[in-house]
Amino acid sequence: MPPNNVRLLITGGGSYLGRHLVPMAAATHELVYTYFRHHPPQLPPGQQLDVRDATAVTHLVTSLQPHIIIHTVGSNRGHDVENTIILGTQNITRAAATVGARLIHLSTDSIFRGNAPPYDETARPDPVNAYGRAKAEAEAMVQAIPNTVIIRTSLIYGLNVMDHGTAWMAQALRAGQPVTLFDNQIRNPVWVETLSRACLELAQNNYTGILNVAGRQTLSRAAFSLKMLDYWGITSRTTLTVGAASDGEWPLNCELDLHRAAAVLRTPLYGIDDVLTMAGSP
Ligand SMILES: NC(=O)c1ccc[n+]([C@@H]2O[C@H](COP(=O)([O-])OP(=O)(O)OC[C@H]3O[C@@H](n4cnc5c(N)ncnc54)[C@H](OP(=O)(O)O)[C@@H]3O)[C@@H](O)[C@H]2O)c1
Repeated sequence: MPPNNVRLLITGGGSYLGRHLVPMAAATHELVYTYFRHHPPQLPPGQQLDVRDATAVTHLVTSLQPHIIIHTVGSNRGHDVENTIILGTQNITRAAATVGARLIHLSTDSIFRGNAPPYDETARPDPVNAYGRAKAEAEAMVQAIPNTVIIRTSLIYGLNVMDHGTAWMAQALRAGQPVTLFDNQIRNPVWVETLSRACLELAQNNYTGILNVAGRQTLSRAAFSLKMLDYWGITSRTTLTVGAASDGEWPLNCELDLHRAAAVLRTPLYGIDDVLTMAGSP
């Protein structure tokens, strides 16, 4: 029996974040998570849900009556990305308001243009691509209801399961396909354990509004990717180049100001080198 009586609903239990967050949350909460097309094999049974389906979302949320919803669905991967982000967030937001649940919503540093860093919580979205525009629209929906937190985060990685970006690079490099790492796209990669803990901390405290939650080390995507390739022992590098991304497709410098998170959260915002050192990796 979980040690508290807080009922928590997590959307996207099979997302990279969800696969780490669900087991952590299950240790302390009465938990239900959802999946869409793939039941995550490593997790206990979850509820199938298409977040674009308003009737299904309303039915699930009103029958469960969760105290807290953590909405992880809405990444830049998969099928029908924009509807999943916009309709999905609309449906989850309405359902959360109907049952009076606290809503923790996952957003991204990709809502910014990348030309005015560092971005603090007062920074207004100025997206350069469809994903950023959809995530910015989703943020506005969440802000319209009470008792919500919008977590703006950066590249998510872990040391037990390879993150999406590294998995893509590893596959392409092993197949001898060209991979360019961008040294002018600046980010604050976040350890998935940090982000999961922060989600659960924010589920329990009374903070409301936007909060930047990311790693305190700011570095280029190229520098980050090379650290990940080293960590995972990916040595095929003959087709790897480092260069500058052109301005426009993805934002360049999305450095997040983490002062507020450091004051609000007990969870340490480890940078990538902190995490690798703790793991005993040089
Ligand atoms: N990954 C990053 O580096 C990063 C960076 C910044 C912000 N974020 C934010 O963090 C959150 C989690 O990202 P992630 O990378 O962990 O996600 P992810 O691994 O790409 O997973 C996306 C999940 O969405 C589910 N999904 C897709 N369409 C759905 C639908 N119509 N209804 C219900 N579920 C649906 C998929 O379920 P099935 O597998 O069952 O189809 C999958 O589990 C997102 O909100 C994202 O914007 C991520």
